[in-house]
Amino acid sequence: MKDILEQLEQRRADARLGGGQARIDAQHGRGKLTARERVDLLLDEGSFEEFDMFVTHRCTDFGMEDQKPAGDGVVTGWGTINGRLVYVFSQDFTVFGGSLSETHAQKICKIMDMAVQNGAPVIGINDSGGARIQEGVASLAGYAEVFQRNIEASGVIPQISVIMGPCAGGAVYSPAMTDFIFMVKDSSYMFVTGPDVVKTVTNEVVTAEELGGATTHTRKSSVADAAFENDVEALAEVRRLVDLLPANNRDKPPVRPFFDDPERIEPSLDTLVPANANTPYDMKELILKLGDEGDFYEIQAEFAKNIITGFIRMEGRTVGVVANQPMVLAGCLDIDSSRKAARFVRFCDAFEIPILTLVDVPGFLPGTGQEFGGVIKHGAKLLFAYGEATVPMVTVITRKAYGGAYDVMASKHLRSDFNYAWPTAEVAVMGAKGATEIIHRKDLNDPEKIAQHTKDYEDRFANPFVAAERGFIDEVIQPRTTRKRVARAFASLRNKKVQTPWKKHDNIPL
Ligand code: HXC
Repeated sequence: MKDILEQLEQRRADARLGGGQARIDAQHGRGKLTARERVDLLLDEGSFEEFDMFVTHRCTDFGMEDQKPAGDGVVTGWGTINGRLVYVFSQDFTVFGGSLSETHAQKICKIMDMAVQNGAPVIGINDSGGARIQEGVASLAGYAEVFQRNIEASGVIPQISVIMGPCAGGAVYSPAMTDFIFMVKDSSYMFVTGPDVVKTVTNEVVTAEELGGATTHTRKSSVADAAFENDVEALAEVRRLVDLLPANNRDKPPVRPFFDDPERIEPSLDTLVPANANTPYDMKELILKLGDEGDFYEIQAEFAKNIITGFIRMEGRTVGVVANQPMVLAGCLDIDSSRKAARFVRFCDAFEIPILTLVDVPGFLPGTGQEFGGVIKHGAKLLFAYGEATVPMVTVITRKAYGGAYDVMASKHLRSDFNYAWPTAEVAVMGAKGATEIIHRKDLNDPEKIAQHTKDYEDRFANPFVAAERGFIDEVIQPRTTRKRVARAFASLRNKKVQTPWKKHDNIPL
């Protein structure tokens, strides 16, 4: 008996070594943790239970039958994050570069199936050279099995991808279908085809960092939601995110203890909006003052900064925030900001997270760049996302809410539940100057008349009361009371139910 127990421990020890000490040292030499070290940091101490530690590949080509490391390049299993169940897979770059074989894929699929059945998030730690070249089509089939599960799990359980090394070819498409992608600066890359193939096909010379590094994907492509300094920070941030999310689409996000008075009055908000309507101010200040303990988890902070998306808590409960940022492009909506916010709104709606919308938007960004790029379709994404959302929605207009952008930003007409405005709000078809120049075109050569018309327009429309008179704004509130008003509104909406007509699925403008 003792021998058998010792054998088991020996086999486990061998499996834990993955591709061997030399490759582990090389991994550390690159500033990267190993697959197992990452799992240990991600999960609560001692909570990890492993599946399939002894699985090996079945390939017999290219001398592969002589190299069969236990586990086949991916560590899979389950554990807890602050006591809540999660499933995890972590690719082991020390074993064939973390490449995906048929059996490697089967291990991932097994825990994905369990995650869906048991209603818990899946976290994938990706560090992989893509399809296992020696296995050919068997590995492509393995990828497709994972993709299919990503699609079926979408909107059912949260799926989070952490990119912690090179991810090429098939290795990028599974993360692309998950809810959030995090990268590590200077050690993670994502591309469909690497720099060598790019050079051969298009003659472009580009580094891996330029083509698919963290800066590229958080600032230009928006493929990634955030990038962190190192593996340790990235994993700590994933834990923080999981804490904000429900386990599945039938569950509520966890309620955390809070030590911040929901009725807290913030006198400084009374002067947040500058006297001059064209002077910017930082909308983040408002977000930080509304949430419990000033805590804000921002998503896509480096991309389309004219809109802010992320999570706060109010009375310990998660709230998704979408807010125009007057500091960037005056808070205009454009292609990038519409896409960014639409995806965020849809995530919140899929997982029953209430949405707070803070509005200061002068309209859609004009220009050929926007029109040729399809701003009509992209802007419609955000409109569509809000219009189909059935979660509790509260909207606060701080200043401008002009034109189509007024409609889009969770207006009353898109089933927002509470629509508040500050006294500084201006709800109108457009700004006074633009409006005057159109309706009084004949007076364009008379600056005095134009100035008078502009003033008349401002007096008549640059306020929240025209909309409030029609019930499009439920109440004009004192800025200092905003946290209290919003918290009470969300508290009253906790049992909100909306019936929608049966359909197979909608046809959002993609
Ligand atoms: C098998 C692989 C591998 C792969 C790496 N290795 N990629 N083994 N299949 N795809 C092995 C290497 O042989 C090496 O083994 C070890 O992993 C480490 O690789 P290195 O090249 O030494 O490391 P590094 O210099 O850091 O480069 C990492 C890399 C590079 C950028 C990932 O290995 C690379 O370009 N690999 C190929 C990427 C690729 O083209 N994949 C196929 C994509 S096509 P030893 O024994 O020396 O340690 C695809 C199709 C799916 O994925 C499509 C589905 C839609």
